[in-house]
Amino acid sequence: MMHKVLIDCDPGHDDATAILYAARHLDLVGVTTVYGNQSVDKTTANALSILTLLGLDIPVARGCDRPLNGIFRHGGDVHGKTGIDGAELPAPARGPVDAHAVDFIIDTAKQHRGELVLCPIGPFTNVALALRKEPQLARWLRGISVMGGTTQIGNTTPVAEFNVWSDPEAADIVFRSDIPLWMVGLNVTRKVGLCEQDVARLSEGGRVARVFGGLFGFFRNQLREIHGLDTASLHDPCALVPFIAPDLITYRQAPVEIELGQGPARGMTVCDFRNLTTRKLENIKPRAPANCSVAVEVEDRALVEHILAAILGWPDHAPAAAAVPSPV
Ligand code: RIB
Ligand code: CA
Repeated sequence: MMHKVLIDCDPGHDDATAILYAARHLDLVGVTTVYGNQSVDKTTANALSILTLLGLDIPVARGCDRPLNGIFRHGGDVHGKTGIDGAELPAPARGPVDAHAVDFIIDTAKQHRGELVLCPIGPFTNVALALRKEPQLARWLRGISVMGGTTQIGNTTPVAEFNVWSDPEAADIVFRSDIPLWMVGLNVTRKVGLCEQDVARLSEGGRVARVFGGLFGFFRNQLREIHGLDTASLHDPCALVPFIAPDLITYRQAPVEIELGQGPARGMTVCDFRNLTTRKLENIKPRAPANCSVAVEVEDRALVEHILAAILGWPDHAPAAAAVPSPV
């Protein structure tokens, strides 16, 4: 049976790819949106347009427009003025549902008790507020698999990754939730990128693939100009890999804490990989018990090819409310 997932996102080129990848291989029961790469108005419109492009009738619930501390700082146009520059997307075939994303997350987890995996791939504000509003959510969810954080260098700051940096207090609530947690950070996702030839393959594909070719042509140029990278990072689809192709990413159990200070390390995911022996010294002991499976290695080329296959194989004849393509 396919795993049930709900994606909480800020589309976003890689978010759009995560939606396609999840719809191809999993039971994507809903999408919630949050500020991040752009305003929540834009990320919601982008999510609705992507689902229209894919011919999917999946509910979208609009979420928070700012972090818990109230200071909205969007992604600095890394993803462009629209949040998903690079290709013409269809106008949304439908609008968002009436429910707020926080309530949609709670209601969907209650409806699919014990089965639903929540995949936050933008700032974690919606998820944190849902955990605060409904304490039973921690029992109802099967797990939470995030794209966020890093065990090495950051992107938005030297040590912090954008999703966690955007709302560290929200990330702290998620990492202290005692829910089974998977974290894939920049240390892995930056290795999973589309090169120039990959983008060209998309641009020579069918209608949907050509749209993604345009999107990733733009995104790759942005990352090259801003971060000096030569590939377009597929950050967000990596959060789905434990439920689609678990052999492609290796995880390691570790304590992860979020730096909440106002200094240069704010938003850092402090991962403790020290192999401390049982001999406890006063000032050398684990700070906290392991609370997370942290991604440490990836079969990067195999994962890129698996994601490309999902995009290149998406049927072009998908009508407005098509069922998800049957796995081949
Ligand atoms: O740091 C990478 C993350 O920030 C990705 O989720 C990307 O979409 C942006 O939200
Ligand atoms: Ca994202």
